[in-house]
Amino acid sequence: MIDVEDVWYWYDQDVPALKGVSLSIRAGEVVAIIGQNGGGKTTLAKHLNGLLKPRRGVVRVKGYDTRETPTHKLASIVAYVFQNPSHQIFMSTVYDEVAYGPLQMGLTRTMVNKLVAYALEVVGLSLNPQTHPYDLDYGQMKLVTIASAVAMNPDVLVLDEPTTGQDHRGRRKVAEVVKRLNSEGKTVIIITHDMRFVTETAGRTVVMAEGVVLADGPTSSIMADVELLSRAAIKPPQTVRLAQSLRSRGFNMSMLTVSEALEELRAALGCGG
Ligand SMILES: Nc1ncnc2c1ncn2[C@@H]1O[C@H](COP(=O)(O)OP(=O)(O)OP(=O)(O)O)[C@@H](O)[C@H]1O
Ligand SMILES: [Mg+2]
Repeated sequence: MIDVEDVWYWYDQDVPALKGVSLSIRAGEVVAIIGQNGGGKTTLAKHLNGLLKPRRGVVRVKGYDTRETPTHKLASIVAYVFQNPSHQIFMSTVYDEVAYGPLQMGLTRTMVNKLVAYALEVVGLSLNPQTHPYDLDYGQMKLVTIASAVAMNPDVLVLDEPTTGQDHRGRRKVAEVVKRLNSEGKTVIIITHDMRFVTETAGRTVVMAEGVVLADGPTSSIMADVELLSRAAIKPPQTVRLAQSLRSRGFNMSMLTVSEALEELRAALGCGG
């Protein structure tokens, strides 16, 4: 679905933001991209729908070279949800914001209305669609921007920090959105600092630092690699830290998610469900 080959990118500064990044993502994967601030995650994400074009190297989306493919074509395949919702929202009602993409695609009003209703339902926003997006809180604004992406019915969704501004319930909701989209066949790429969210949603994790990919593998192996995480200035999720400290006390634990932790603790303590 996505092929990034030795991509270099620099803004108008001396130090490149991407220094030879290579990455392939198959259809149907949920991949997390993690790493310290300024590591190049957003810069990489913006290459996946042609918002940025590689200075060196190639990005192919479903086989299309992003440098040679019109933006509207790429946007119909990959939807990028901005890190900061106010960089994305520009209409004055939630309806217009979510309907914008489908209208640009030339769909009928009936079809557009169906897509808007579907997208708002997927993200779990039950509000008056005539609400001004700026009257919503930050977490709800993020959900509106995710709904705008969902309404385009793309093959791939790239969510840049989707859980920022969400409380515990909001985070769970976003995790459910990711699972639902994936179960409907979508490829989902999540950029996040939220390690618990990563363990609950992504089977594969890519670690970036200073414009390069430090590691790429199953989330369980990445999260267990203390040395790697500390090189990327990432604190392992609480479940993993608990497993480590219990292992040092002679318990054989390797849980990643809270439900796995419950299962393993119950088994170790010999109590049932
Ligand atoms: N529009 C821009 N103009 C100039 N430099 C930029 C711009 N956007 C990002 N950079 C620089 O490029 C590098 C990579 O930034 P990027 O935003 O891709 O990192 P990130 O991993 O997404 O960080 P964060 O976790 O803080 O969102 C940083 O050094 C950053 O300062
Ligand atoms: Mg970023």
